Formats: sequence, structure tokens, C-alpha cells
Amino acid sequence: MSGKLVIGNWKMNTRGDSARQLAAALLADGETNREGVGIAAPAVYLAALAEQLKGGNIALSSQDVSRFAADGAFTGEVSAAMLADVGCRYALVGHSERRQYFREDNAALLAKMRNAIAAGVVPVLCVGETLEQRESGAYLDVVREQLAILAEIADGEYVVAYEPVWAIGTGKVASLEQIAEIHAFIKNWCLQNVSGSDKIRVLYGGSVKAENAEAILATENVGGALVGGASLDAGSFRVICQAAGKMI
Ligand code: 13P
Repeated sequence: MSGKLVIGNWKMNTRGDSARQLAAALLADGETNREGVGIAAPAVYLAALAEQLKGGNIALSSQDVSRFAADGAFTGEVSAAMLADVGCRYALVGHSERRQYFREDNAALLAKMRNAIAAGVVPVLCVGETLEQRESGAYLDVVREQLAILAEIADGEYVVAYEPVWAIGTGKVASLEQIAEIHAFIKNWCLQNVSGSDKIRVLYGGSVKAENAEAILATENVGGALVGGASLDAGSFRVICQAAGKMI
């Protein structure tokens, strides 16, 4: 796939009806119903959405994947094989909300990445620093440590998403200079530590909106966007996808 990738992360929002309506609106619009657009929906709605999206071009993503690979006694978990079975192309891994509320660490995240890749699902590894880490100047070290698991993965396709925690859901978007700096840093780190890294796409996430999407997506080394709040509104998401669609 060439061009920018835009994934809408619905987080713990929608119900059956509203999920169906939102997906229907995205399917009816050529700006959103195209290659390079995805939605990361709540796990319980993935199977129904997969049916609904059949025949269209919108990719389905989960918001998480189990660190356990094999079927068995892991109550509450959803395996990579199950996600592949219902038609997920992507799986978010290590979103900052999972790191914060579920204490996901690098060991668990490496297992999740490997499980997704083995099942044919493309993991989207989310990295990013907190406000405190940004202000103390430690943010590059933090991101480097989060990226470290990629050096353990021999092969397989994956995506990286940089989402500064202080910009998520706060309306406080990182400046274009900050975005350019960290995306260059991630790209260089990958070039030095990961084979085939010239193909790794790095998304930006954190208060991406209709109004700022074009400038963010045009920033060097930004391969797309991971969109939270604005992806719940078909009109806003459309504008973001449209901005992405204009760029190769
Ligand atoms: P917002 O776009 O709501 O800031 O969320 C970003 C995000 O966490 C996407 O994964």
C-alpha cells in the first residue's frame, strides 16, 4: 500500500446501532471507503462490522490483542487468531491507555506483536511520552525504550504510531516541529536497529482533527494518523481521510 494510512480508534465508545451507523456513513463515502483507511472498533463489535465492511475497502482493526497465542484458559482474552478469523487487518498494541491502566510492559507487548504477526494481523505499536517525561527532556529515551522490542522481531510487517500522552484527548496537539523531531528520531532508530525499516510506516496520533490533519500529515516522516475523538464523527473523519488521500 502506498500513501498515508489513517486509522480511527473508537476506543470504548459506540453501541451496536451507533457502530453500524458510523460504519455505514464511512462506507457510503469515497473519501473514507478506500484503501488506507481503517477503524479500530471495540472487540464485541468486530465480527458484525467485518460483515458490514465486506465488499468495501475499509480495513478493520482491533484495539488490543492477547499476549497468549494458543487457545486455552485465559478468561476475557481475545487471541490474534480470533482477530484474524473475524477479518481484522490491524491490531493496536501498547496504546498508552493500555500501558497506563493495564500496566502493559515491553515483555507483554513483544508477545502481542509476535502473536499478531504470526496470525497475519499487522500490529500497530503505539509509543509516546507523558507530559512529565516531555518536560523533563527524557522523551527521546522513553520512546527509544518503547521501540526497543522492535529489534527483537526478526521479520513481519508492522506499523508504529507516535502518540504523546499529553496530546491524547486533550485538544493539545504537538507542534509540527515536535512531530517532525520525533518522527525523524523514530525513523533513524528503525534504520539503525531493524531490518527492512525503510518500509515502516510511522503514524501520528493525539488530537488530530479536521482542522490540523493536513499540516500534520504533510510533516516529514509522518506516514499517517491514528485518530481518536474525531473518528467518532463521520464528517470530521472524512476531512482527515481526504487530506491523507491527497498525499502520496
Ligand atoms: P484523540 O484523537 O482523541 O486525542 O486520541 C488519540 C488516540 O489515542 C488515538 O489512538
